Amino acid sequence: MKTDLNTNGEGMGPDKKPYVHGRSERESERLSYQASRLGDLLHDGTNYPPGSNVLEAACGVGGQTVILARNSPGALFTSVDISPESLSLARAAVTSEGHSNVTFRQADVYDLPFGPGTFDHVFVCFLLEHLPDPLLALGKLKAVIRPGGTITVIEGDHGSALFYPDSADARAVIRCLVDLQQEMGGNALIGRELSRLMREAGFTDVRVSPRPVYADEGSAESQEAVKNIFIAMVEGVRNDALAHGLADEKTWEKGIRDLYRTAGPGGSFCYTFFKATGIRKG
Ligand SMILES: C[S@@+](CC[C@H](N)C(=O)[O-])C[C@H]1O[C@@H](n2cnc3c(N)ncnc32)[C@H](O)[C@@H]1O
Repeated sequence: MKTDLNTNGEGMGPDKKPYVHGRSERESERLSYQASRLGDLLHDGTNYPPGSNVLEAACGVGGQTVILARNSPGALFTSVDISPESLSLARAAVTSEGHSNVTFRQADVYDLPFGPGTFDHVFVCFLLEHLPDPLLALGKLKAVIRPGGTITVIEGDHGSALFYPDSADARAVIRCLVDLQQEMGGNALIGRELSRLMREAGFTDVRVSPRPVYADEGSAESQEAVKNIFIAMVEGVRNDALAHGLADEKTWEKGIRDLYRTAGPGGSFCYTFFKATGIRKG
């Protein structure tokens, strides 16, 4: 029998909609670690000119915000998120890094409190995968970009995870996360759809750049990143996956153990992020 998702309340947003990863301290740390570890890979090619107004939609705890503020010190960022708790952590992160070019505001991406064409550029990372209507969200973001301005969207795709040794149980626990996210209205396989979504939303000059990460025992640091980013993310949905009957306890424990083996001696792990850019023409 199904139970409510995120029954511990951790994953509920202010709109009372569940959020698959929850908002625990461990998840906040995972997001910040992910942003800093993948910063060079994901932000390569993203620099905003001095004086430009940039909206960062769904800044979360500020992991990407500090990188944006650092890489484009002359740009003025407005970073929004639906969660006030995440916003205060983001504000603290940016303040502790000494940046003064970011303003924070609570906002729902479906109901942005900005007039048409307010921003020169929009930056979005790991948001669309959680939304029931990513196309509508892209339309709302497009409306606040001035003609000629750009959007940058970064998403993952859990179907892109390739690993050795292969394991049906490891694939099953990843599938649990994909299925849970789908039940909450999201799509953990959205990376492959970015091109279509951006074009359908009316952006032009759409370009998608796949950004793979790879780890084997040649780099202990990369293997640590696989454990702390990807495996920790999957482990985070354990209780919900079991409560929903998506896996039994034995399969779950074996699947997680097998995932750890891919980040150990003789193992290898590969995952691809997708970074899309587009222009609002008219
Ligand atoms: C996985 S986190 C990503 C945070 C950040 N962009 C990063 O890469 O670290 C997703 C964020 O989307 C926010 N979010 C979810 N739905 C939203 C909505 N409708 N409007 C604004 N933010 C939303 C959540 O509160 C959460 O902070």
